[in-house]
Amino acid sequence: MKKLIIFTLISVYILLSCSPSLYIPASSDPVLQQKLLEGRKLYVRICSSCHNLHLPRQYNAESWRKNLNLMQERAKITDEEKEIIFLYLNSQP
Ligand code: HEC
Repeated sequence: MKKLIIFTLISVYILLSCSPSLYIPASSDPVLQQKLLEGRKLYVRICSSCHNLHLPRQYNAESWRKNLNLMQERAKITDEEKEIIFLYLNSQP
């Protein structure tokens, strides 16, 4: 029982310490903010199934465009989902 609690605490700690490195959008425009959060959610959920997530700053807009076009088929995402993920990936100030 004690081991289980320690294991749970460690798992929670690892989860919490990993996620903040992926930029959380904070736009003052509520419509844009909604889109950016949706993009982040899709990115985390869909794009982490085969490999670790790449940080938004790791590529410029042009490279993200190329990578997303390449990954679209693999990830089986629609054009709309691709655009919203693209928006998120290029929104970090
Ligand atoms: C079905 C598995 C799969 C999914 C889902 C997937 N990828 Fe990938 N991705 C790969 C593989 C395999 C590679 C490495 C081989 C390659 O570059 O062709 C890769 C490489 C990459 C790279 C590095 C390319 C480079 O030039 O080094 C980026 C960036 C990337 N993926 C982004 C994404 C994004 C964004 C998504 C979500 C839309 C995504 N991936 C979803 C399989 C996947």
